[in-house]
Amino acid sequence: MIKIIKGNIVFTPTPDKFTVLPHGHILVSDGKVKGVYQELPREYRNLAITDYGDRLIIPGMNDLHCHASQFKHVGMAMDKELIPWLENYTFPEEAKFQDTKYAEKIYQNFIKEIWKQGTTRIVVFATVHKESTMRLLDMFINSGLGAYVGKVNMDNNCPDYIRENSADSLKDTEDIIIKYQNKSPLVKPIITPRFAPSCSEWLLAELGKLGQKFGIPVQSHLSENKNEVKWVQKLFPDADYYGDVYRQYDLFGATPTLMAHCSLSSEEEMKLMKENNVLAVHCPTSNLNVGSGLMPIRRFMDRGIKLGLGSDLSGGHLPSLMKVMVYAIQTSKIFWANSEKQMDFLTNSEAFFIATKGGGSFFGKVGSFEAGYDFDALIIDDEELNYLDYTLEERLERFIYLGDDRHILHRYVSGNLIKKPDF
Ligand code: GUN
Ligand code: FE
Repeated sequence: MIKIIKGNIVFTPTPDKFTVLPHGHILVSDGKVKGVYQELPREYRNLAITDYGDRLIIPGMNDLHCHASQFKHVGMAMDKELIPWLENYTFPEEAKFQDTKYAEKIYQNFIKEIWKQGTTRIVVFATVHKESTMRLLDMFINSGLGAYVGKVNMDNNCPDYIRENSADSLKDTEDIIIKYQNKSPLVKPIITPRFAPSCSEWLLAELGKLGQKFGIPVQSHLSENKNEVKWVQKLFPDADYYGDVYRQYDLFGATPTLMAHCSLSSEEEMKLMKENNVLAVHCPTSNLNVGSGLMPIRRFMDRGIKLGLGSDLSGGHLPSLMKVMVYAIQTSKIFWANSEKQMDFLTNSEAFFIATKGGGSFFGKVGSFEAGYDFDALIIDDEELNYLDYTLEERLERFIYLGDDRHILHRYVSGNLIKKPDF
């Protein structure tokens, strides 16, 4: 099926600048972009056009790190740093997902919210519970959005009420992989050791093997908070640095790998990320709320490390990746100011690239309107923000800074218009 979508097209094939086509055309065939044209080529002129008039057409947002199971806590419980925050707030809440009815209620509201905010693909942590995690996978399949969903692995250094039996943790993870690996082209399982401290060495080793056996990607947390980094050094004295723990167990790039935070990554850790093609997920709202500090994103860019953005709900309080983009730009300006302007701050096009094509790379050809990319898009009706003469780039900037879900008219994933989930 061929579709032609017309409107003010803005996207970032490269981080350094926006590609802008006023009243341009996107040719979509079988869910993929065939080409972007200012003037429609003659051979396509008899095809029907979906004309979005003066609205903006931008790629969908790719949220690369988020805890679906912490949705109840979004916007609260910000008065503790990471480890006490987990022990006091997060673990007790996640334990409730033993009850699949409770899980369904939270997960339904979660998916509706991210749909509303223009997230078209997301990588999430569920909880340790197999049944609830499978419900979340099924709900994402029903929604039409794209997702990697991780059953969390945790058999060590956590309260008994949420600690898994090691063998069960592995078996449940494998069962989910077998059931969901090929069930949907858009929704897939991902191996999810919570972070190094919460897994035994046996479980880390087995998860590494499992990932390679089935070719499943991996996500975890890395170098987020000072006390956490010190704790990892104590727990794993043989590792050279935090990321080296994951590497030892084939969980650091043996299959496509995401690491959230990386705020305190050493030079060596960054070097290994680059060599192993590990993608660093910047979660600026969460780093501020949980008091972890700031991530020097420019240092990762200078070293050519792949980057994405994460809402990290509920460490982060904002489900909208547009707003996370603003925080990423703002926090980069603190490094700029503190470095006597030696460390460049993020430009709008760089932040937009990271939220779209950078993060999208984890899902395949996603996050751009270049030929061959999945057509994931948002149609933005920013008329009320746009009462004077603004350029299309200025309109996009104002939508990112000032806009919200009321300005998102439609969402597309893989060429399909995605309606509000009806659960
Ligand atoms: N590290 C281990 N678990 C978590 C979590 O749930 N949130 C954050 N921000 N960091 C973590
Ligand atoms: Fe997290």
